[in-house]
Amino acid sequence: MTMFKKLHMTAAVLALSTTTVAAQEVEVLHWWTSGGEAAAVGTLRDTLEAGGVGWLDMPIAGGGGADAQTVLRARVTAGDPPTAAQMLGFTIQDWAAEGALGNLNDLAAEQGWEDVVPAALQAFARYDGDWISAPVNVHSTNWVWANTALMAELGLEQPETWDDFVAAMQAAQDAGYTALAHGGQAWQDATIFDSMVMGVGGPDFYQASMVDLDADALGSDMMVEAFQRMETLRGFVDDNFSGRDWNLASAMVINGDALFQIMGDWAKGEFVAAGQTAGDEFTCFRVPGTQGTVTFNSDQFAMFDLTDESAREAQLAMASAVMSPEFQITFNLVKGSVPARTDIPSDQFDACGQLGMATLAEAAAGGTLFGSMAHGHANPPSVQNAMYDVITAHFNGEFDAATAAEELVTAVEIAQ
Ligand code: BGC
Repeated sequence: MTMFKKLHMTAAVLALSTTTVAAQEVEVLHWWTSGGEAAAVGTLRDTLEAGGVGWLDMPIAGGGGADAQTVLRARVTAGDPPTAAQMLGFTIQDWAAEGALGNLNDLAAEQGWEDVVPAALQAFARYDGDWISAPVNVHSTNWVWANTALMAELGLEQPETWDDFVAAMQAAQDAGYTALAHGGQAWQDATIFDSMVMGVGGPDFYQASMVDLDADALGSDMMVEAFQRMETLRGFVDDNFSGRDWNLASAMVINGDALFQIMGDWAKGEFVAAGQTAGDEFTCFRVPGTQGTVTFNSDQFAMFDLTDESAREAQLAMASAVMSPEFQITFNLVKGSVPARTDIPSDQFDACGQLGMATLAEAAAGGTLFGSMAHGHANPPSVQNAMYDVITAHFNGEFDAATAAEELVTAVEIAQ
């Protein structure tokens, strides 16, 4: 079979041709190590193995992926890149600028990626017009995950405004529950900060501060208010929040120890892995104040530039499988995210998945879809890390909200 023909194979056809591709293998670096994440990555491994492509797993624990990026850098520097690596936003573009990534143009043209991948994702999946990565999903960060039994016990309706949200958390705390399940890690603090910036200032302010890095916006009264809201949230976490992994925070909501978690929809993967159903044991809603907007991040498999022909064929088989409509459904049902293609019907998704797909489409059409700062889609890693430092220092009480806004201006200026 020629390589050209192999490029045409969908994941299903691939499954029938084990004898021709049995020697192929992909080595994939990722940070999907929680229960839900591991189940999701398992669907990719199974799909590839069914098609005769072996899977060499390279998981690097650490939500948000900072540790994975450090390991990846070491591997590439040593001249031994993996086949593919899970990557976010601006980081993909950085690797492309270094000339480290391969070219998926032929496969993309053959399968019509340009017509089905949203423009906001193509901005990261292509470099100078060339396809360099395969997007597997769209996540977003402005979600609240809630325990429905606890809401009922406390007599709570779904909060629509920031004040309602605070009142609901107060009710939970007064009743002896943890109001907000949170893990004190920089990337988690930053994840909730995405929604505080959007909730206080709306789309124009998010664009000016997080994307355009406008100093006036970064140091504005609205930014002070965003930090004040972080202080309010800080008052609702439990005493043991420091350093807790995000999935353990999700477990607090799953177990009924905590009312809410503000987290990207990878959290849904934990609820589903625990056997819970959206709209039944748990529910989801956009962070009050951010309705109508979406702060997104997309996991993509950046494909490294490989010289070995067999490795390259395996890489293309993986990219092809990742982009297939069937696989995008299978994977995203488990991962908690929504497909990275616009042509996938939502009927197989649960209530949260359907809400995610609808709000994403609305935000994309209405100009209210923005890259998540916390997950590398609003600004480059140097700026993102500078923001992380200020947000976390403030969250841990190193300085007040007004000082935090000033520190943000300075940190961003130095990082650029
Ligand atoms: C990734 C998700 C992942 C989450 C927690 C995010 O940056 O996009 O896929 O589940 O980090 O590890």
